[in-house]
Amino acid sequence: MLGLQWGDEGKGKVVDVLTPRYDIVARFQGGPNAGHTLEFDGKKYVLRSIPSGVFQNENMNIIGNGVVLDPVLFRQEAEALEASGVDIRKKLKLSKKVHLIMPTHRLLDAANEKAKGGAKIGTTGKGIGPTYTDKVSRNGFRLGDSLHDFENRYTQARDRHLGMLKSLGAEPDMATLAENEKTWFDAVKHLHSYDIIDSEHYLNHQLDCGKTVLCEGAQGTMLDVDFGSYPFVTSSNTICAGACTGLGVAPNRIGNVFGIFKAYCTRVGSGPFPTELFDETGKTIRDLGHEYGAVTGRERRCGWIDLVALRYAIMLNGVTRLIMMKSDVLDNFDTIKACTEYEIDGVTTRDFPYDIDSTRITPVYKEIPGWKTDMTKMQSADEFPENFKAYIDFLERELNVPIAIVSIGPDRKQTIVRAPGLL
Ligand code: GDP
Ligand code: IMO
Ligand code: MG
Repeated sequence: MLGLQWGDEGKGKVVDVLTPRYDIVARFQGGPNAGHTLEFDGKKYVLRSIPSGVFQNENMNIIGNGVVLDPVLFRQEAEALEASGVDIRKKLKLSKKVHLIMPTHRLLDAANEKAKGGAKIGTTGKGIGPTYTDKVSRNGFRLGDSLHDFENRYTQARDRHLGMLKSLGAEPDMATLAENEKTWFDAVKHLHSYDIIDSEHYLNHQLDCGKTVLCEGAQGTMLDVDFGSYPFVTSSNTICAGACTGLGVAPNRIGNVFGIFKAYCTRVGSGPFPTELFDETGKTIRDLGHEYGAVTGRERRCGWIDLVALRYAIMLNGVTRLIMMKSDVLDNFDTIKACTEYEIDGVTTRDFPYDIDSTRITPVYKEIPGWKTDMTKMQSADEFPENFKAYIDFLERELNVPIAIVSIGPDRKQTIVRAPGLL
């Protein structure tokens, strides 16, 4: 289950809805840069590192090796869940190979951004980039490592980070850092009270026993470190292949690949976005879709759906089923636009190019008549207005993958399964 755009497609909601069909839900990459929103029984929850399966009964949740975990934010998230009645220790297991985000990783994230000046990525400031950098440069600090020789390893890593901060011209307030370190050490002890396992063995054994696993992606394909709009990306592989490396599950064990997209498009942070709208329509979409970051509260940039980017995402992920979110946000438009091709230097292309610098690309749009009907209370696909059905047909033709689920509101219940046989 993956996001096909620039994140915030509605992954949290879909995982919650699909969880009753699975035995295990597993997060495989990213960290607290994610903000996955779930709404049910009149309540709203935002999850960052904990899988979105925790609210349903009878299933297990895994935080896999590909994830980077901030012990302090994890503790806040876990305690909030406990306070709302979730028996989180019973419902969650953590991989020993998860990399830990240290307080100095967050400082490095901020210092790197500052050093980039106008070319900054617009990160979530959660220390994601520096933690993955340490992982790949073989300097990382894993949850399993924190079980022994903990303080020594920590001090070595911290001192190395302080040297890097100095070279970036950052001068951390050492008293605040010392306080944050204390909170961090306490939070690591809290982490040790969870079931810390070799999750690759656990997951493969469960699969051998016939159990089913739903992998929960974070971010989106266009933020993938290899295939996204580099360098304006996150620091992990958000695509389907990331589920293999981030959980230790082989490619031939993957069944259906659910690709999630919004009926339009959003992006938060810097970087190119070919179909971005700078006019009233963009603002209207932002207002109607409440397009503000679940973690940082930042305004999301809004635009029309980009089918060139979606086709690319479908190809990279091997998507077998599509799930369209936030269809209701377009309920009141006279006309809806969909970008079917890019025009670059006078030549049109349907293939996603190397460089998507917005100043060079002119999106070619198809206009689709709006449905001008409130769909938020509909119970089945039979009730969909004709123009909305035509929009779905158009998308399926353009994307060549069936749309199995359509979401018509943030609540768990506002979900229409169009093709139950496809799930
Ligand atoms: P995620 O990061 O992919 O899990 O998505 P976010 O939670 O960051 O953003 C999706 C937002 O849209 C959340 O506020 C959801 O409650 C909301 N949402 C999800 N599906 C729908 C939908 O079909 N319609 C509307 N109006 N809102 C939705
Ligand atoms: P979910 O899982 C939207 C964006 C940031 C920034 C870039 C790099 O909720 O869809 P990072 O902190 O990862 O180094 O930031 O990626 N970004 C997201 N945008 N949704 C997310 O997660 C995001 N996680 C990171 O805004 O542009
Ligand atoms: Mg989000």
